Amino acid sequence: MIYFNKETLEFHLSNDKISYIFRVMEETGVMEQLYFGASIDVYDCYDFLIERESKPGNNQSEGSQITNLDDIKQEIPVYGTTDFRQPALEVVYPNGDRISHFAYHNHEIRRGKARLKGLPSTFGKEEEVEILAVFLKDRYSELIVELRYAIYNDFPIITRQNIITNHGSQTHQLESFLSLNLDLPNEDYEWLHLHGAWAREAQLSRDKLVTGTQQINSTRGASSHMHNPFLTLCLPETTENQGRAYGFSLIYSGNFLAQIQLDTYNIARIQLGINPFQFSWELAENASFTTPEAVMVYSEQGLNGMSQTFHEFYKTHLINQKWAHQKRPVLINNWEATYFDFDEEKILTIANKAKDLGIDLFVLDDGWFGTRDTDNGSLGNWTPDLRKLPNGIRGLANKIVDLGLQFGLWFEPEMVSVDTPLFAAHPDWRIGNPDKHISHGRNQFVLDFSRSEVVDNIFEQIDKVLSSAPITYIKWDMNRYISESYSAALDKQNQGELFHRYILGVYDLYEKILEKFPDLLIESCAGGGGRFDPALLYYAPQAWASDDTDAVERLRIQYGTSMVYPLSSIGSHVSEVPNHQVGRLTSLSMRANVAMFGTFGYELDITNFSEAESAEIRTQIMTFKGYQKLIHDGVFYRLKNPNDGNECAWMVVSKDQKEALVGWYQVLAKPNPAYQRLRLVGLSPDKNYGVSEGGTEALRQGKDLMSVGLLLGENLIGRPENEQGRSIFGDFGSRLFYLCEK
Ligand code: DGJ
Repeated sequence: MIYFNKETLEFHLSNDKISYIFRVMEETGVMEQLYFGASIDVYDCYDFLIERESKPGNNQSEGSQITNLDDIKQEIPVYGTTDFRQPALEVVYPNGDRISHFAYHNHEIRRGKARLKGLPSTFGKEEEVEILAVFLKDRYSELIVELRYAIYNDFPIITRQNIITNHGSQTHQLESFLSLNLDLPNEDYEWLHLHGAWAREAQLSRDKLVTGTQQINSTRGASSHMHNPFLTLCLPETTENQGRAYGFSLIYSGNFLAQIQLDTYNIARIQLGINPFQFSWELAENASFTTPEAVMVYSEQGLNGMSQTFHEFYKTHLINQKWAHQKRPVLINNWEATYFDFDEEKILTIANKAKDLGIDLFVLDDGWFGTRDTDNGSLGNWTPDLRKLPNGIRGLANKIVDLGLQFGLWFEPEMVSVDTPLFAAHPDWRIGNPDKHISHGRNQFVLDFSRSEVVDNIFEQIDKVLSSAPITYIKWDMNRYISESYSAALDKQNQGELFHRYILGVYDLYEKILEKFPDLLIESCAGGGGRFDPALLYYAPQAWASDDTDAVERLRIQYGTSMVYPLSSIGSHVSEVPNHQVGRLTSLSMRANVAMFGTFGYELDITNFSEAESAEIRTQIMTFKGYQKLIHDGVFYRLKNPNDGNECAWMVVSKDQKEALVGWYQVLAKPNPAYQRLRLVGLSPDKNYGVSEGGTEALRQGKDLMSVGLLLGENLIGRPENEQGRSIFGDFGSRLFYLCEK
């Protein structure tokens, strides 16, 4: 998979799907990018891929006319050469200058990629993945940069991660060190990314790439609701199922930068990594710094092809393997049913009913600890509130387990309230400068997770609770961003390290918890999808996608989230109506048909449900459990974009193409509607499928389902029982079709 030509100093990483080619440039020793795209043959020499001209106004090295780097495609551009574009590495030298020049030194090729502790990254066995480590030496110091590439046999993917080590005795300062730089010739590309806010995460945006820089980022200490560490380049004609797309995803939960700089020679410089904003890192003698890993996907099967690659790759090579292919419990969470207002009796009433409905896991959300009756206090005091739960968490959990349910619990480990013993004992454990203003967010403050003693304290508290009771699941929440960043524990030259050290502290706590409780299922959450990123899936295989549980809003949110993240990671519940975020009334079936394309659970007061509603929920749960393997292990296709109109549709096809499940949704009902068809994809053309919907089944062939599609209207051909006209699905209507090979 990795070829090196020692005559021409060219590297070619390839499998049967992709090729990634770069070389050592003459005279400068800089790594010159030549090609990333569909697989091409291994040639003796790739000179034909070199684009090099002497452009007017170039700066050159002394004695040379071909060393200008400003229009050269590079693997890791640095400041201090003749390249004026945004560098991927910027170092401050002991005398204050920032002039670097990293040239090829040597390289290593090896097989296998071990799981990294404390920094989420992809992993694979020796027979699955090959690694290329290229070492570059700085002309002016003892700094060595390692460019680490991974190519997996079965995926159109290259991953990148960079490491810098200071082999000298003088301390240097890193000001910027990105994970990925790809200089790609522009072909009229468009760029696509996910943006949003609380309660409206993962909204799709697609625009033409224009000259200059287009950027998304986070400066909030978490990957954020506003942007996701992901972007795509695609052609104007690229659709969900056809055309070229390059997907880029960063395995990181903190401040990130993802940008495309389209330069004057029509090269798109794509960069992903830790956001250089507010970042610096001291590199003392023998110290190393490792960037997060970035993943690049190439697809010729449109956006669905790209997403399917991300889904399968992350499930196989990133997501917590204990859970990646394991059935998840159908849960009920009490948050929207009770908020803070509950006691043991109320919880047990919900749990009793939940058991009766077929639910597997009861999750007790916020409000069980300290004296937390509102969101005003108690965070950091993880002792059960005996006023609400006289038998503690242990007593409650045992009772719930006795009912035949599993028990799960909510934590918000990274936060502290000022009314807690923790804050009284350690006011300096709060992020912020005590001599300046420190803002609260939801009445709470952020603990300084860059300090190991803080992480240890919280681990001990959580450990105590988890060890005391039969708890199989935790929901790890995080409800505010970091403002006024300052750590009392860091020296002045190290303050720029806080954001990254903080997130390493978060990963450390995940490691500690999972080391002690390896079977625990963790769902990450940050006021909804404020930290929905690949890195947390390394520990927590599912993430609460949004606090917006309205079925219509969820169509857009789940549609966008699926660009990168598999359905088995998308936390989705059937919740209360009128919906608590938008006040909308949607039917129970619409809510379930949307939530089924995710982890599936409930978050509403089920205690007063009528027998008819209870029966409907029982059927929904049985239906989901029947399809769960298909939904979580199958291949997902987006069919109709909810941003384009009144409808949304998607489907999952099993890998052997024997089964499929299609979800169709309409926002508003139309009177006397036009005829409609929904063309399916991904089926086996020659297989016959029984297409069933609510008890009726029709026999169809894969070929015609993919060329004609499902006919959504009626076919009234004189049968008396049908003469009423088309079934009315109403506003917020939905349909679920199950296809099974016959
Ligand atoms: C925000 C989460 O997204 C909600 O689901 C809930 O857990 C609340 N926090 C509790 O405070």
